[in-house]
Amino acid sequence: MLDTGRISTLLNHHHPGWKIHYYPSVTSTNTAAWDLYKQGLKSNLIIITDNQTSGRGRGKHTWHSQPGEGLTFSILLQPDLSADQAGLIPIIAGVSVAEAIKKLNIPAYLKWPNDILINSRKTGGILCESRIAGSDISAAVIGIGLNVNDELSSYPEEIRTTATSLYQSTGITHDREDLLIAVFTSLERNLRDYSVSEIVQEWNRSGALINKSITMVSGNSTINGKFKGINGKGEAILEINGELNAYASGEIKHFREAK
Ligand code: BTN
Repeated sequence: MLDTGRISTLLNHHHPGWKIHYYPSVTSTNTAAWDLYKQGLKSNLIIITDNQTSGRGRGKHTWHSQPGEGLTFSILLQPDLSADQAGLIPIIAGVSVAEAIKKLNIPAYLKWPNDILINSRKTGGILCESRIAGSDISAAVIGIGLNVNDELSSYPEEIRTTATSLYQSTGITHDREDLLIAVFTSLERNLRDYSVSEIVQEWNRSGALINKSITMVSGNSTINGKFKGINGKGEAILEINGELNAYASGEIKHFREAK
């Protein structure tokens, strides 16, 4: 079980003004965050659980996590961003998670928009949801799922060849409380101090599949092109027949080495 006392002490020390809300078990920390928001808790909350029973992923995906082994948490905040910058939140979150993992000397990469990869396998995912009021973001929930000490054998068959955990890829058990604080520290700093060009540069430095030929499904279209990284809105740039095109949403399905 997570040591919530230690998390609170670390938070009080490094990030006074932030509180944790712990559930031994909950359907989804993102859903729980919005419930708390409706009850009047508007910001500066980290919602965390040891057992997420209906984890939500992007689109129609679900998020599987092994009770007590990974990190499944959501951050409820009021970011200082305008509505048209909402696409940057997942990008900032991805860069922050990758930064925290790299501090453990584990090479982490980002697959657009915000899968966290180690050795080309998915070890983390991010689900960002925003409430927009006019031209402002009135609240945002950044949901982060990270496979930390999970054994791959405990995973459902269908993701065993594509998923990994920090433990699985290093053979080392990692301290979940320290990792949570490291991710949060990175995220809090990047949300406060980022410059668009630096965050884009950082994302592109950690970007997986840069210059690879990919197939992406965006809405009803399937697009083939060479992935060139992201632009200042967090959109994917694809080179198609020598022209650069930007996509705000989509899912990369296949890739191969570019010729
Ligand atoms: C994805 O890869 O599709 C995104 C996965 C996001 C999973 C996290 S776990 C914590 C938070 N609560 C949820 O229900 N989802 C996010």
